[in-house]
Amino acid sequence: MRAEIGAKGRKWIAWCVGGVGGVGLMIGMTMHHPDDVVIGERPAVERHLSQREIDRGRVRMKDLVEHGAAVFSARFNALDGQGRPASTGTGAPRVPDEPHMIRTSAPDSTSCAGCHAQPRAGGAGDFVANVFVLAQALDPVTESVSGNFSNERNTLGMMGAGPIEMLAREMTEELHAIRDECREEAARLNVPVTLALVAKGVEFGRVTAMPNGKIDPSEIEGVDWDLIVKPFHQKGAVVSLREFTNNAMNHHHGIQTVERFGEDVDADLDGVVNELSVGDITAATIFQAALDVPVEVRPKERERREAAERGSMLFDAVGCNECHVREFTLRSRDFSEPNPYNPAGNLRLLDVPHPFTFDMTKDGAKPNLERGPHGTAIIRPFTDLKRHNLNDADFGHFDNEILAQGTLNGFADPSEFTIPAEPRPTGEFLSRKLWDVGNSDPYGHRGDLSTMTEAIYFHGGDARESRDMFFELSSEERASIIEFLKTLRVEEHTKHGKPEF
Ligand code: HEC
Ligand code: HEC
Repeated sequence: MRAEIGAKGRKWIAWCVGGVGGVGLMIGMTMHHPDDVVIGERPAVERHLSQREIDRGRVRMKDLVEHGAAVFSARFNALDGQGRPASTGTGAPRVPDEPHMIRTSAPDSTSCAGCHAQPRAGGAGDFVANVFVLAQALDPVTESVSGNFSNERNTLGMMGAGPIEMLAREMTEELHAIRDECREEAARLNVPVTLALVAKGVEFGRVTAMPNGKIDPSEIEGVDWDLIVKPFHQKGAVVSLREFTNNAMNHHHGIQTVERFGEDVDADLDGVVNELSVGDITAATIFQAALDVPVEVRPKERERREAAERGSMLFDAVGCNECHVREFTLRSRDFSEPNPYNPAGNLRLLDVPHPFTFDMTKDGAKPNLERGPHGTAIIRPFTDLKRHNLNDADFGHFDNEILAQGTLNGFADPSEFTIPAEPRPTGEFLSRKLWDVGNSDPYGHRGDLSTMTEAIYFHGGDARESRDMFFELSSEERASIIEFLKTLRVEEHTKHGKPEF
């Protein structure tokens, strides 16, 4: 699909060339433009969206999502600024070189949808769409897929990612409230104070504050020491769809976004500046956030239906739901952009007069998030957004990585803590969201397991008890649990292969 918003109907809403701050030239206001057709080679994204217009409330949700879908599916070319001859996938400069595409250290795909394609754009990916995470930091001469240079990971789907981002945000608010209380008490009493960290019922160990305000993080579990729940990357390393999108644009496509690399800056020396505007990234973010939410699809055949019902109960009975938590209540139904915890290099709250919001239970693709009472929403993600270690003396399948992905201080300055920053543990991963497990195979963070039973088989460590109980069940009972998991799916059939709004 080409990135041509308004191609049908020719209705544009104030598009701006050049991105932020309205510095660029306004080229269209809800009108038919006779010069619209330009022949010859053209960039995949021909029109850029101005954040100022979004801030002024002049861009309808529908148009934002359509533009975002186009950016997400655009097959970027050299005229868009595809490729990054003078920088790595982290943005660090390097000796200019010009391999346009390289499978390991990337650019590795022409579009986001090249990998995120199952069952449609925005979704998960086949094993062939695996990414060699951290190889993007290397000079692209490294063609090795060896674990010494990268961590191979399978593509995840973003259906329901808006609610996931908001769940993480509400959990972060709760953890920060506990930490703040801890700091205040420690200062008031002039002794170290320790409190249990619990957010929406999920336990993250304990936090200790020193009278001088420093945090002793040694008992914090499953989350970074900054206590910001980062729901993205199977490692739990990225806080928002926006942060991920800015990273991925540079990493996978060599597209430098204005908010990350600056206005009129050709950081990668490819001759193109302002490759995607702030508004374009808002649109790509809202497109992902407003994707449909995975659902439980009741099987038609009575036998399957009854098995799935039994399986659902057994899933809880053997303790799978301790990590794959079935359900949470969100205090708010709104998704709001930008995320208040975004690190520098991404649009932040202070950059906009007010956030862009939409109601996740009403707006966006159907099926929407479920409504709860009193303005709340119900999310059924089958995860606790916490990192766990599934490895022990008998099972080590999920301990196959060598390189640490970042450090546990997260976005916080290491000097805030009583001990030096440590790498994120290589053997720990977020409890995988199972709400789309029925049609997001293959399984495991590397996507190297072809059945769910194999994935469950390798649940050692923190999940050992639950795993052993699963394999003590009769084969019919195990099959019922699998039958239940098969009902958790992303809707395959939507109008025109696109989500319905
Ligand atoms: C070469 C394949 C590939 C391309 C191209 C790609 N992705 Fe991904 N994406 C992945 C993989 C693999 C993961 C899982 C990474 C991990 O867990 O470490 C992922 C994860 C994500 C996530 C986090 C999902 C989650 O639940 O953790 C987001 C958001 C995302 N991608 C957005 C994008 C966007 C936006 C683009 C285009 C700018 C893009 N991706 C391009 C393969 C790809
Ligand atoms: C201690 C926490 C914990 C418990 C208990 C647990 N899991 Fe998991 N589960 C995880 C984590 C973490 C992953 C991600 C593993 C990886 O890929 O590194 C995972 C992954 C999975 C996957 C693979 C999904 C995919 O798309 O790749 C399935 C299936 C699964 N779990 C099912 C179960 C079932 C069934 C049970 C109960 C018998 C269970 N889990 C118990 C933490 C847990």
